[in-house]
Amino acid sequence: MTMIDITTSFCGIELPNPFILASGPPTSDGRKIIKAFENGWGGAIVKTLKPDHLEVVDVGPRFAVLKSKKGEIIGFQNIELVSTRSLDVWLEEIKEIKKYYPAHVLIGSIMADVKKGSWQDMAYKVQKAGVDAIELNFSCPHGMPEKGVGAAIGQNADLTEEITRWVKEAVDVPVIVKLTPNVTDITEIAKAALKGGADAISAINTVQCLIGIDLDTLEPLPSVDGYSTFGGYSGIAIKPIGLRAVAQIAKTVSVPILATGGVSKWEDAVEYLLVGACVVQVCTQVMLEGYGIIRSFIDGLKRFLMDKDMQSVRELIGLSLGKLKSHSELSLKSKKPYIRKQLCKSCLKCMKISHEVGCGAIKLNELDGLEIDYSHCDGCSLCAHVCPYEAISMSEAVYSL
Ligand SMILES: Cc1cc2nc3c(=O)[nH]c(=O)nc-3n(C[C@H](O)[C@H](O)[C@H](O)COP(=O)(O)O)c2cc1C
Repeated sequence: MTMIDITTSFCGIELPNPFILASGPPTSDGRKIIKAFENGWGGAIVKTLKPDHLEVVDVGPRFAVLKSKKGEIIGFQNIELVSTRSLDVWLEEIKEIKKYYPAHVLIGSIMADVKKGSWQDMAYKVQKAGVDAIELNFSCPHGMPEKGVGAAIGQNADLTEEITRWVKEAVDVPVIVKLTPNVTDITEIAKAALKGGADAISAINTVQCLIGIDLDTLEPLPSVDGYSTFGGYSGIAIKPIGLRAVAQIAKTVSVPILATGGVSKWEDAVEYLLVGACVVQVCTQVMLEGYGIIRSFIDGLKRFLMDKDMQSVRELIGLSLGKLKSHSELSLKSKKPYIRKQLCKSCLKCMKISHEVGCGAIKLNELDGLEIDYSHCDGCSLCAHVCPYEAISMSEAVYSL
């Protein structure tokens, strides 16, 4: 296992493994970042810094969750703003962290009001404090857009290009632009960032959402003294949106991508690498489980590479991209379901669903139990997904539709 190389890099910056902390509560002060480094995280993006004149006040509660029927947190809403701490305090902490952890990667996330001087001043100061790269937060979907910043910038291609250019003029370290998924076409914004000179792209920030309504009080969640506001959705539920966005960006532009969105286990990170990311950021799962999850991420990734006979994590990057095509290019040969009798408990759920909303191909045979009438089956796979016992698989044999 020790021979497996899980180091990665972007813009000439080397990382001991592809996992870094995304900007958020786990990086909201220097003490937390150091704790993360001690646990094995190779890099961290600080909670977004802003100029002191941009007033930011957090409300409470500012989190709400969506649980699966089994009680697992699968979605997370926050209405937290950027860092409320003063810039000077942050600059001192960045200097200290880099002094004691020079080999660890520290990225300064910044946001400013839409003035050239504000962005350039923030970027210059953060660079001077010693960060390895700067991430531009053009993507926070709540609170900050009301002040004309955050996602208000990342939803506007011209502003994205212009502000990226301002920052590029002011600093020498690599500039990463963090994109919002709350746009019609994320590749247009990625292209604008690159036109402005961005060296890398982070995607995605949270997805704008309303996580729920309390049915006792009829108040939207999280309820802040009876009222709420649309927030940012993160955690497991947003991984499909993040994967789609990263894959679209990777297919459109050639630039290092730092993926973020719904990474809760090493497998999620591998998926992001396969669609073109070279670094994977994590926020919500660390909030739910603590910094120690990095160890299972590293072990899982190494074991996966070994099982696949790969020597380096870099071999994974973008491997699945070529398998994403337009719908009209997909094959018309379909797999068909088959029932593994030894797992089937004859609950008849597949048959009920098949008859109510599917093609009605599942039948009950008095002697042999459930069977599939292939003359009616169009291979949609619904029966396999609803089976509680995983007794239905899609066969390797293919049939022409
Ligand atoms: C409570 C909370 C606060 C966040 N604050 C920031 C922030 O200050 N700056 C930023 O760029 N992203 C922020 N994010 C977004 C995360 O960095 C990340 O892009 C997003 O949550 C998706 O990743 P995840 O599913 O691993 O959490 C925040 C997310 C959460 C949940």
